[in-house]
Amino acid sequence: KKVVLAYSGGLDTSVIVKWLQEEYQCEVVTFTADLGQGEEVEPARAKAQALGVKEIFIEDLREEFVRDFVFPMFRANTVYEGEYLLGTSIARPLIAKRLIEIANETGADAISHGATGKGNDQVRFELGAYALKPGVQVIAPWREWDLTSRETLMAYCEKHDIPVDFSKAKKKSPYSMDANLLHISYEGDLLEDPWTSAEEDMWRWSVSPEQAPDEATIIELGFEKGDAVSINGEKMSPATILETLNKIGGANGIGRDDLVENRFVGMKSRGCYETPGGTILLKAHRAMESITLDREAAHLKDEIMPKYAKVIYNGFWWSEERRMLQALIDASQEFVTGTVRLKLYKGNVIVEGRESPYSLFDSTIATFEDDAGAYDQKDAAGFIKLNALRMRIAAQKGRTFLDR
Ligand code: ARG
Ligand code: SIN
Repeated sequence: KKVVLAYSGGLDTSVIVKWLQEEYQCEVVTFTADLGQGEEVEPARAKAQALGVKEIFIEDLREEFVRDFVFPMFRANTVYEGEYLLGTSIARPLIAKRLIEIANETGADAISHGATGKGNDQVRFELGAYALKPGVQVIAPWREWDLTSRETLMAYCEKHDIPVDFSKAKKKSPYSMDANLLHISYEGDLLEDPWTSAEEDMWRWSVSPEQAPDEATIIELGFEKGDAVSINGEKMSPATILETLNKIGGANGIGRDDLVENRFVGMKSRGCYETPGGTILLKAHRAMESITLDREAAHLKDEIMPKYAKVIYNGFWWSEERRMLQALIDASQEFVTGTVRLKLYKGNVIVEGRESPYSLFDSTIATFEDDAGAYDQKDAAGFIKLNALRMRIAAQKGRTFLDR
């Protein structure tokens, strides 16, 4: 038996390597991806080797992540439950895909991951895995073993000679975190009381709005067919754009969020998120669409957006409905090209200007000045009267709102 494990190089997944070898007597293949989490991935090689792993995959997936997952999602302006920008949700389908591709390459028949049995991540990894390789076996140690506390985990390490960097283990953040180019998430510890404020030193990517500079930062973000392609006129790759926006946004206190969300498995969960670049991107993309999209096209997108967010949050990226929704979204982006000028100031993203060669904004019609006959105001009288027809009929028949 051979199993491909999503391996971070951290303590938990190192224990999983050993546990899989012991409990399932199987050969473990490790897969470690750089998704822009800001930690070196190369050290995972030596750690995996020390655990006796022979096939070790370490990959830089940052460009693919942003180009094929983050940007397609942002074309839809996706937000889950009005707040969450889906930073973790959107990374899981890519990891699932690579786990399966590596399984196929190495002749493995199983995959494994370090997500708990209480969360969304297990669902996302496994739905993806089953969709891409229907006969695959999934091993989720957290749902099986009894190493449920830090102490039992440490004892297991000692017993099996798993090297633990104790200085690091002690310094380890008390939060359950997940980071990639789109965000960092924090859950657990004192955040488990939804009334308790997050500690200032929890946040890693952004300064607080209070600490942000007194002078605003102005940037111009260029778009082509719905995707950001340049900052201040300079063309950049998708990952570089997001990385750059994260830096500028974080420096201006942008993108912190503190929320309670509904997990797919049924529980409510409190989480804090830092999504500086994504917060800027969302605002800018909407501004770009505001002048380039037809009204009904824009409204239709907005109607399906919550549905699309739920599909991604619940882990159904590799599904027929996601593909269909994406096709509709992509079709809407043909003319979403141009530039948005933004002011970043103490946690705020303020749109200051937008322009596009495909702008539908017609100042000769919209003007408050003399429009030289471009728009006949008399047309509006009939337009309004016919829209009022059913209300007038009802009112004439006694259905007044004044006494109800
Ligand atoms: N609650 C968020 C989500 O479901 C973040 C999950 C973070 N995952 C983690 N392994 N720390 O998308
Ligand atoms: C986990 O349970 O592994 C993290 C939280 C989540 O997946 O929602």
